[in-house]
Amino acid sequence: MTTSNFNIEKIIAISTPEKEEVTFCKDVIEGLSSSPKFLQSKYFYDCAGDSLFQEIMDCEEYYPFNCELEIFRERTKDLADIILRQSTSFDLIELGAGDCTKSNYLLKYLVDINADFTYRPIDISANIIDYLHLELPVTVPGINVEGLNGDYFEMLGKAKDLSSNRKVVLFLGSNLGNMLPAEAIAFCQELRQNLNQGDIAIIGLDLKKHPATILAAYNDKAGITSAFNLNLLQRINRELNANFDTNQFEHYPVYDPETGSCKSYLISLEDQSVEINTKRGFKTIHFKKNESIFMEVSQKYTPEQITCLAKQASFKPIKMLYDQKKWFVDTIWQVL
Ligand code: AVI
Repeated sequence: MTTSNFNIEKIIAISTPEKEEVTFCKDVIEGLSSSPKFLQSKYFYDCAGDSLFQEIMDCEEYYPFNCELEIFRERTKDLADIILRQSTSFDLIELGAGDCTKSNYLLKYLVDINADFTYRPIDISANIIDYLHLELPVTVPGINVEGLNGDYFEMLGKAKDLSSNRKVVLFLGSNLGNMLPAEAIAFCQELRQNLNQGDIAIIGLDLKKHPATILAAYNDKAGITSAFNLNLLQRINRELNANFDTNQFEHYPVYDPETGSCKSYLISLEDQSVEINTKRGFKTIHFKKNESIFMEVSQKYTPEQITCLAKQASFKPIKMLYDQKKWFVDTIWQVL
């Protein structure tokens, strides 16, 4: 149940940061007014969320980061050999590059063997792109880096306009897993539409494994994943002038071994009301005791499902590179 005097549609002539705030506000209110309630996991990553995510990657229980790092460290030559099967120059495009800890192994290798390529990291954060422009020429001397700041598909379009080189797209870190299966298919289809024959996509995905291992990764003993989820409520407090009492919500992850969906929820521990009170209006959101907010899906796949996903998006799967435990895969697809 909600009460409000919001009318966001009326706001027209506003600046980009303000637009972002309005979109955030709109998405939050839409999600918390739905039944069942939900929030979009893309909003986890404010400054505090970024640093909590860094801590998650250092957690003993959170294996996906180290598994994929191992693949990029140990299988660099295999990755490069597949990319270089075609001898023409190429653009290496990384979607959501972050600080490119994993792709760094590949970049160094390709520069060392004098491969003719431009690295085009795409990230929604302008700070990340600025950082990579400064940092990469120091850590990977000789690299040609031209970052693009913005939405993935908009920037992929821009990359096509910038050069006619063939494209190799990296989408690592099981980021595709943060989409529900139907959304993941649609995303891969859109990716395919933005590529040409012969282009390559390298996608990192977490695999189904013992359910306890997966659940522990999203329920670390130190409580960092819990803090990561609760931080979104704190972000809403900070940016939308709300009054969530985060002590009255509890992190609750579940993993369903049949569907491979690991889902995180926040559970309201009491009947309670929360006010969102921005300069554009207020909204009261009511929570029943034990009511849930769906926060995030982290989808796990089998190799067979990944092959099926490639085909549904009209890619040809050409290679799967696993870590030693076979917990994670970087799957390599080509446009037919
Ligand atoms: C970014 N993404 C792939 C992470 C995952 O595993 O779903 C986000 C995360 N959420 C909780 N822990 C990590």
